[in-house]
Amino acid sequence: MEKKRDSTPAGPNESVSRQIVMSGIRPTGFLHLGNYFGAMRNYIKMQDEFDCFFMVADLHSLTTHPDTRELKANVHRVLAENIACGLDPEKVALYCQSQVHETAELYLYLNMMAYKGELEKTTTFKDKVRLNPENVNAGLLTYPVLQTADIILHRASYVPVGKDQEQHLEMARTFANRFNHRYGEVFPEPQAFNYNQNLVKVPSLDGAGKMSKSENQMATLYLADSDEIIRKKVMKAKTDSGPTEKNAPKPDYIENIFLLMKLVSSPATVQQFEDDYNNCNIRYGDLKKQLAEDMVSFIAPIRNKTDAILQDEKGLEQIMRKGAEKANKSAGETMKLVRAAMGLNYF
Ligand code: TRP
Repeated sequence: MEKKRDSTPAGPNESVSRQIVMSGIRPTGFLHLGNYFGAMRNYIKMQDEFDCFFMVADLHSLTTHPDTRELKANVHRVLAENIACGLDPEKVALYCQSQVHETAELYLYLNMMAYKGELEKTTTFKDKVRLNPENVNAGLLTYPVLQTADIILHRASYVPVGKDQEQHLEMARTFANRFNHRYGEVFPEPQAFNYNQNLVKVPSLDGAGKMSKSENQMATLYLADSDEIIRKKVMKAKTDSGPTEKNAPKPDYIENIFLLMKLVSSPATVQQFEDDYNNCNIRYGDLKKQLAEDMVSFIAPIRNKTDAILQDEKGLEQIMRKGAEKANKSAGETMKLVRAAMGLNYF
C-alpha cells in the first residue's frame, strides 16, 4: 500500500522510478574485511539495480561521541573508503546526514509518536546505558527514531543492514505505520535487505569469532593496513603441526585460514592447499605466506585509492555537495507530503 514516488531517481540515464534503497554508515573506526564482504559488496551490487541513498550517519555519532574535533576527518575517511571499494557517487546519492536538514524536522514529528517505554526496551539503548551510564541523553534514547527519519525521508523500501540492526528496522516499520495510520499513507514499510541469505562470514585471524571494528585489532584486517601489517597479522594466525591422517576434518582455526583464502586467492591456489592438506603434506608457513601475499594484492589497491581520494579534499567536498543535493531533493518532496498529511501547510 505504498505511495509511488513521482521523483526522478538519483541515478543517471533512468527515466522510470526504481525501488528506493537507503542505508547509513557510522563514521567511527576503520572499515575491515568483514565490512567489505558483508555490507560493501551489497551496496556496490545494489547501486545498479536500485535508487540508492547511502549516508554517513554523523548525527548518530553525536549520541555517543559528543567531541566533534575528529568528526570531519572521520567522515572523509568513511566516504573515501566507500568510494575506493566501488561505490560510485555518480550512481548513488552519497551524502552526510547533517547536510539534510529535513531529517531533523521529520525526527521531531516522529518523536511525538515514539513512546518512552518502547524506546527504553531497545537492545542497543540498554547496551549503551550499561557501557556509558553517565551520558544517557535523550538522543541516545531516540536513536531509532532518528534512524527511522533517515530511512523514510526518502520513502525507502529496502535497507541493507546487518543482523545487529534488525530491531531498529522493526521500529522503523512501527513508526512508519503509526504515521500512516494517524495522518494518511505517506511511507512504504522499510525492509532489511540482503542478497545472500547466509551472510558471508569473515572469520578473525585468531580463530575466535568474526572480524570486528573494536575487538582484537591484530586479528582483524583493515582496508587501511599497510602491506607490512597485513603480512604480520596473517603470519601470526594460529596453526598447528598439521594433519596426521589423510582427509581429516580441519580444526576451526585452520578452516578459517582456508575461508579467508577463498575470499582473496585464486581457486587453483585454494585447491592446491586443500590437496596438500588432504595428503598430509601441507606446510602452514607456505599457506600463510601465500594468503598474506594475496591479501596484500587485494587490500593494497583499495588502500592506495582511499589515500588518493583523501588527498583531494576539494574533490571530496564536491562529492558531498552533489550527494546532499540529491538527498535534499528527495527529502523536500517527502516533507511536502508529510506536512500536508499532518495539516501543517497553513499557507
Ligand atoms: N544505526 C546504524 C548502525 O549503527 C547506522 C544508521 C544510521 C543506519 N542511520 C541509518 C543504517 C539508516 C540504516 C539506515 O550501523
